[in-house]
Amino acid sequence: MKKNCIFFKKSGIMYTWVNMMSAKMIKITSKTEYDKLNEAANLLAKGELVAFPTETVYGLGGNALMEDTVKRIYAAKGRPSDNPLIVHIAEKEDVYPLVKEVTPAAQKILENLWPGPVTFILEKSDLVPDAVTAGGKTVAVRMPEHEIARELIRRSGVPVAAPSANLSGRPSPTKASHVAEDLGEKIACIVDGGSCRVGLESTVIDLTSEPPRILRPGGVTQEMLSALLGEVEGYAPKDEDENAPKSPGMKYKHYAPKAYMMVFDGGNCRNNILKMVEANFGKRIVVLTAGETEDYPCETINCGETAEIYSQNLFDILRQADEQGAEVILAELPFEKGGIATALRNRIYKSAGGNVMLCG
Ligand code: TXA
Ligand code: MG
Repeated sequence: MKKNCIFFKKSGIMYTWVNMMSAKMIKITSKTEYDKLNEAANLLAKGELVAFPTETVYGLGGNALMEDTVKRIYAAKGRPSDNPLIVHIAEKEDVYPLVKEVTPAAQKILENLWPGPVTFILEKSDLVPDAVTAGGKTVAVRMPEHEIARELIRRSGVPVAAPSANLSGRPSPTKASHVAEDLGEKIACIVDGGSCRVGLESTVIDLTSEPPRILRPGGVTQEMLSALLGEVEGYAPKDEDENAPKSPGMKYKHYAPKAYMMVFDGGNCRNNILKMVEANFGKRIVVLTAGETEDYPCETINCGETAEIYSQNLFDILRQADEQGAEVILAELPFEKGGIATALRNRIYKSAGGNVMLCG
């Protein structure tokens, strides 16, 4: 059966674009190097675009108080202007100038879950430019857990608007090299802090609705939020309704590799995947597995045995598959619902453009 498949090795393409890059790369491997962040912090403060690591994904940062800079963030990503940005802060108290009121629910989140992978939405203050909120009355705020992110924001002295640092539609970046690939020639600087721990974007919770409502599942789970806040409305795909999206970003094509992709959701996926491999005879097929396996008669990439590890690896592996010239990606997804698997399911379904087979 092995003859049916085309094998391919990792190519050297990665290294070609590194040479073309114009963004300054600043690598930080320990706290003793934090002074290297001053240059990036100064660039941010004066309105340049700087990408930086967070515990979720890399962010494309700009001074949130400078309207022109914020507009350049949208332009660099090719992001539709109706999709608002998250404002990142270094200290809990920095939230107060950005919002009308820190509600009791927000207070609980900032005391118990910040810093961490959760973003809340409150009514915005006049300080926040309309470009950040896409003209809306609410603002999303997040205090990242990643020390380099907070140190950079602290040294810049300004709140930092930052979407994920990928071109719109592409898988989010979880390594500095991903940012360089997408934006290296469009931004001033990339701070390289290694791989991101969570690998999927923060949970977004709207605290202006009653009960609070999860607009995007992420690293802080619904279970954690309900334990803290009481009733919380879980994430529902209906929020992505094109006509009245609660979180505009959720309606756009997202996280997509160049290949055709299909997800096999459930424990009994092997036979269905084998059928698809056969049906795509002659094409470059990659199977994403959830753990070590020798079983598929084509290229496989192990995303990891747990939903946590799979989440960390997903976007990196989708980019690897693209680089390798994959034409068809078939992904095992054997995880129980709940916890981080809710966020993983959300992202991988979107990566596959909704091509999902339920496999019991
Ligand atoms: O983990 C993260 O959140 C990363 C890192 C860099 O912090 N950032 C990130 O940003 O994922 P972005 O722009 O790729 O996604 C922000 C999401 C979008 O779906 C956007 O529509 C939503 O948050 N959002 C932002 N402000 C909002 C608001 N005022 N109301 C509703 N949704 C909002
Ligand atoms: Mg994004």
